[in-house]
Amino acid sequence: MRISVIGCGYLGAVHAAAMASLGHDVVGIDVDEAKVATLSAGKTPFFEPGLADILKAGVDSGRLRFSTSFAAAADARVHFIGVGTPQRKDTGAADLTYVDAAIASLKPYLAPGSLVAGKSTVPVGTAARLTEEIRDTGAHLAWNPEFLREGFAVRDTVDPDRLVYGVTEETGAEDVALLDEVYATILAKGTPRLVMNQPTAELVKISANSFLATKISFINAMAEIAEVTGADVTQLADAIGYDARIGRRFLNAGVGFGGGCLPKDIRAFVARADELGRGESLAFLREIDEINLRRRQRLVDLVVDSFDGQVFGRRVAVLGLAFKPDSDDIRDSPALDVAVRLKGLGAEVVSYDPEAMDNARRMHPQLAYADSLDAAVEGAEAIAIVTEWKQFKELDPADTAGKVSRPFVFDGRNVLDPVAWRDAGWTYTGMGRV
Ligand code: UDX
Repeated sequence: MRISVIGCGYLGAVHAAAMASLGHDVVGIDVDEAKVATLSAGKTPFFEPGLADILKAGVDSGRLRFSTSFAAAADARVHFIGVGTPQRKDTGAADLTYVDAAIASLKPYLAPGSLVAGKSTVPVGTAARLTEEIRDTGAHLAWNPEFLREGFAVRDTVDPDRLVYGVTEETGAEDVALLDEVYATILAKGTPRLVMNQPTAELVKISANSFLATKISFINAMAEIAEVTGADVTQLADAIGYDARIGRRFLNAGVGFGGGCLPKDIRAFVARADELGRGESLAFLREIDEINLRRRQRLVDLVVDSFDGQVFGRRVAVLGLAFKPDSDDIRDSPALDVAVRLKGLGAEVVSYDPEAMDNARRMHPQLAYADSLDAAVEGAEAIAIVTEWKQFKELDPADTAGKVSRPFVFDGRNVLDPVAWRDAGWTYTGMGRV
């Protein structure tokens, strides 16, 4: 099927390449000329495992093209909208500028029988408004949210937990049939497919992310209690996680969640609930945000306290900058925030991340970046692990002790073995761990 994907950022680029890998004829459209040139050359503009292969295969086969011109979308039957919905600085609400611009630019090329399928995370009610906006073209609109995780984006797209179609009563039957055709290969694997109305589909996405954020902040709140009671939050998570109703996943306490989705999505949801006169329903999400932001400062405080309150001029190795491992994404990254806060207090921060240093350097040139993990820890008076990259988890405590000038380790992701590190002479501090 001929498909267009509007917006070639994280979501769009992966979706376009994944659709081509399923055998469709895809054009990805973006207003950013540099990005289109990179993608057209079969190169990935960001780090995402597995993307390079399907992108190159798609471009080489001729089934995947990229363009800055919306006219290239003219003969597509399904147009996916995958542009960003960033957080507005003033209200915290979602900024729909890019969604509205995408629809306005696409509109002249929409024809009866074609379908606009929204993927971006939008405030509930957006799909209904856009349906009206394109009504006179004869094209339909459905909401088809994406649940991809960075680091697993390709897998999550071609092998998702479920497919969600939000359609109108008026055109639903036709739209479902068309989307089923797009996703035929995925559906053939037995992937659950849920059909619902548009507002439900919009809410599915935002409530899923709110639930995940809540789970993380819940365990971080337990870490706060553990810290003052001598309890261990990791053992607690293991124990409650065995209850299948709770589950162990997303119960890792530490410096909290970041990234391009969870933080902005919960804020946008709170703003939308306020607009709908239901602010009290989501009041707890403000608390979820607060707990999350407190944990970064907590780690900074632990480091500072270890220097008796005087971190000025002390050498601190901050290991990790990306908001999570296997990603070079530093958006709303707790790791980067910890580095910046320590630097702001006068510490001599040396940061290292296997993938995110170029992005971090552009945004924070004032930080020092080490060329290697070894160079970062060399002579450090404290090590803070803030992104759980494999190579940090696998650091050898005895070997590392020989490189630092003061063996103090702060485990901001609770991924080290406290016993092994203490046995090697380290003063180990986790987040809510004994
Ligand atoms: C998230 C959702 O998981 C995904 O379904 C949605 O489509 C987009 O947002 P992503 O932003 O890629 O995906 O990251 P995710 O793996 O969910 O992690 C989010 C943050 O939570 C990371 O900063 C991670 O370090 C943190 N986290 C995760 C914890 O602090 N503890 C945990 O137990 C799990």
